[in-house]
Amino acid sequence: MIMKNHTNQFEYLTTNQIGDFTKEEQALIKATINKSKDAYAPYSKFNVSSGILFDKDQIICATNVENASYPIGTCAERNVLSFFISNYPTSKIEVIAVYAENNIGELNQPITPCGMCRQALLEAESRQKQNIKIIMIGNESNFLIVNKCSHLLPFAFDSEVL
Ligand code: THU
Repeated sequence: MIMKNHTNQFEYLTTNQIGDFTKEEQALIKATINKSKDAYAPYSKFNVSSGILFDKDQIICATNVENASYPIGTCAERNVLSFFISNYPTSKIEVIAVYAENNIGELNQPITPCGMCRQALLEAESRQKQNIKIIMIGNESNFLIVNKCSHLLPFAFDSEVL
């Protein structure tokens, strides 16, 4: 038996033009950037915000929320996902956006969700049986886009094995 070699590819897009997005996505991007000022991140001083676009033009946003007991802190993506899942049980997420600023200001490069958030995004995507597009925002002219969250987590732990 000869060991087999496999490869796994995924597509991502980049753009520096906000005009490449739909009107609704542009509103999501702006709302997400604007929300970062409300982050509760006194320990890391790394303000993260995440927004969800659903039902064509509805938008909700949340931020990371830290705690003096550091591990209790939660990421912006999981906070907005939890709010969405518990308040809009019959709706589907069309797009999720993520943005971050450090204590100096814009990072200018898109941040990508942490591993724990990728697992949470994957669960939301499989539950609704519809792809979730993720827009990672560096600033208003630097974007990284993945059309399916599961692309961010190959070999993910999946509920089908339970
Ligand atoms: N953080 C997020 O909110 N989302 C991510 O995808 C990465 C990290 C938060 C957690 C913590 O409050 C701060 O950023 C620094 O790690």
